[in-house]
Amino acid sequence: MRFPVYRPRRMRRNEALRRLLRETVLSVNDLICPFFVMPGEGVRNEVRSMPGVFQLSVDELLKDVREVFDLGIPAIILFGIPEHKDERGSEAYAKTGIIQQAVKAVKDAFPNLLVITDVCMCEYTSHGHCGIVKNGDVDNDATLDVLARIALSHVRAGADMVAPSDMMDGRVGFIREALDSNGYSHIPIMAYSAKYCSAFYGPFREAAHSAPQFGDRRSYQMDPANSDEALREVALDIEEGADVVMVKPALPYLDIIRRVKDEFGYPVAAYCVSGEYAMIKAAALNGWLDEKRVVLETLSSIRRAGADMIITYFARDVARWLRET
Ligand code: PBG
Repeated sequence: MRFPVYRPRRMRRNEALRRLLRETVLSVNDLICPFFVMPGEGVRNEVRSMPGVFQLSVDELLKDVREVFDLGIPAIILFGIPEHKDERGSEAYAKTGIIQQAVKAVKDAFPNLLVITDVCMCEYTSHGHCGIVKNGDVDNDATLDVLARIALSHVRAGADMVAPSDMMDGRVGFIREALDSNGYSHIPIMAYSAKYCSAFYGPFREAAHSAPQFGDRRSYQMDPANSDEALREVALDIEEGADVVMVKPALPYLDIIRRVKDEFGYPVAAYCVSGEYAMIKAAALNGWLDEKRVVLETLSSIRRAGADMIITYFARDVARWLRET
């Protein structure tokens, strides 16, 4: 019998060797923490399908953001739940809209924390679609103006980066142009470039009150079966001026993250979405999975696939766990 010459196990014998060999390191620097903000005072509503995640009024938001900041997490991303919805989602770009108020409050209190805003209409429209609806369909070009207005109003309120998540064609270029011509050429765009029409957004729509009132998002979000198309979407967004490209969701689309990273070598964000959070949380609360180990393994796999940064509802837990080890 011939024994193997090369024995991979030799380098796994103890933690010091494993540390030397480790290829991917998850760090607090990779994390972006999402928040849902709504009008009112003292509001802290737990989202039914996302235990540990809350809809917060601005005063409560500041308490949680303090924690994020103290843990050393570099960035947050804000989603708004407006007072009123209408056909055109006008509260999305109102000067005193919920996001505009929240951004200002957070930047006043934590000037060095990076504040990203989600630019979309679905939380603000009465029909729940991500754009202007004409004849029962989302009208691409009529939506571009509104998206640019929303982005500009977020930046005027103090946002450090805008993240369009609507999936309209040409929106990155439109937003870039609006920012540049108003003196904001230094503000980066993180584009939700390969955003799939995913069932994993279910809990988010409960949290953000943003489920479409008729039909679905299949005419603008990507078909989960497609991969080459993701590269075309990313190429377009880069051409139009995106600074970071995003793949969303994360875990069911690790292959897309890898392809995007290999093809473009651009900064890649991955959004570990509400359904991914809910799935792990539910199993953990049942005692079926070890939450800490599963979350760290999941986020490491997203980094290993090629993501530079991860939007995750577990951000604060992860930052705490990484401190412990
Ligand atoms: C807005 C938007 C959605 C998410 C982020 N931005 C929902 C959707 O497209 O329906 C989902 C995030 C998550 O599930 O955590 N368009």
